Amino acid sequence: MPAHEPDTDATPDTELDRAPAPGPEPERAPEPGSVPDPQPDPAPFTALARVYDSIMADIEYDEWVSFVLQAAAEQGFAGGRVLDLGCGTGNATRPLVGLGLQVEGLDGSEEMLAVARRKLPGVTFHRGDFTSFELPGRYALVYSVFDSLNNLLTDEAFLAMARRVRAHLEPGGVFVFDVNTPVGLRGLWEGGVAAGLADDVYYRWEHSFDEATGLARVEAYCDTPQGAFTEVHHERGYDADAVRRLLSAAGLEVVEVSRHPDGGAPGPYAERLWVVARAPTAAPG
Ligand SMILES: C[S@@+](CC[C@H](N)C(=O)[O-])C[C@H]1O[C@@H](n2cnc3c(N)ncnc32)[C@H](O)[C@@H]1O
Repeated sequence: MPAHEPDTDATPDTELDRAPAPGPEPERAPEPGSVPDPQPDPAPFTALARVYDSIMADIEYDEWVSFVLQAAAEQGFAGGRVLDLGCGTGNATRPLVGLGLQVEGLDGSEEMLAVARRKLPGVTFHRGDFTSFELPGRYALVYSVFDSLNNLLTDEAFLAMARRVRAHLEPGGVFVFDVNTPVGLRGLWEGGVAAGLADDVYYRWEHSFDEATGLARVEAYCDTPQGAFTEVHHERGYDADAVRRLLSAAGLEVVEVSRHPDGGAPGPYAERLWVVARAPTAAPG
């Protein structure tokens, strides 16, 4: 438990131990010479939004999107409404716009969406959470890339996301996504540091893996001309069995689980997976 949180197990046994009656905090002038409280770290994908595209400039979005569209076409996708789930700044949305597809985006971060809207003014972007989003109409294809779904830190959250996707897919609609496995997060992230200069941003991201919680953590430090910040992100790995179990529980049919990025056989040491799933073609009778 962090030091600043009250010990909720402690029972007050004298008048003095009891919490004061609720009311406004009295204004206090800072002590002369006192050090101001450090600013809390910004929430994930807030401050990062304005430097995200510089840091991700070399990411192979076009190849990932080609994989998504090829896999979807193999399941019968031939156009219609498409949703980029966890679209961020729209880097994996843009190639579909270029192809004339009817794509929309959804993300939980207003800051990331603001960048996406500036870059792709003709596209509809929705703010929503993976676990609870509610959009009008249904989609022929929902896709999600670059670990977005690893931000779901429990089975319950992943299942809730899968149910929302299922509810938004047309009958026979396709869901394609990538996901880091526990092997990938443990092996790649443990003790790993990624640092460099991207445009005018110096970044130093430290990765670690907590065996007790099974969660990977990244401390993303960025020094920009507007100031420095650190965002702390967490990811949870999902292996092929977990993905199959959770998608099936949501009523989706898992068509294929393969190795990212080449689509080969995954094997036990796969670090990242591609998953292709499909909604039933007809509602259960
Ligand atoms: C690593 S970024 C990937 C963004 C984009 N897909 C790309 O490839 O550049 C992950 C994105 O997922 C979003 N995200 C994380 N958890 C979310 C949640 N529970 N609901 C909605 N969006 C979420 C973040 O705001 C962020 O934009």
